[in-house]
Amino acid sequence: MATNRTFTMIKPDAVENGHIGAILEKIAASGFRIVAMKLTQMTTGDAKTFYGVHKERPFFGELVEYMTSGPIVAAILEKDNAVEDFRTLIGATNPEDAAEGTIRKLYAKSIGENAIHGSDSDENAAIEGAFHFSGREMF
Ligand code: RTP
Ligand code: MG
Repeated sequence: MATNRTFTMIKPDAVENGHIGAILEKIAASGFRIVAMKLTQMTTGDAKTFYGVHKERPFFGELVEYMTSGPIVAAILEKDNAVEDFRTLIGATNPEDAAEGTIRKLYAKSIGENAIHGSDSDENAAIEGAFHFSGREMF
């Protein structure tokens, strides 16, 4: 059954470059309600667990280093068809392939440092949200 929630992180490059406000404005303007949100920093262990599905990939070390390099904004978002609509809003993994107007087209520097995360399934949205938030932090 499809749920109406997804999970996102504004990644360290976008936080460092001052894009939190513009990205949140775009998310709100696209009809997402913020259910939970915080500024936090992932430990190496957090990043290895969170992106564990990629542990055999050649970019895994770089990905863990990048995701722990500075603060991120973690958030749970709500909207009908949240997972799919949010992936459309953020655009392709590689900003060079991302559609005009998408968050990655506007704010990502490269395939590695690509400004924002969006869950790829309802199941992962629930797992990733629970990784960062407890029930009483959700509104
Ligand atoms: P995300 O999980 O962060 O929303 O990104 P995604 O689904 O669009 O892409 P995914 O395949 O899950 O990759 C996770 C993150 O790993 C980094 N990456 N680097 N250097 C590379 O070739 C490469 N490929 C992926 C990116 O930060 C990507 O978002
Ligand atoms: Mg992914």
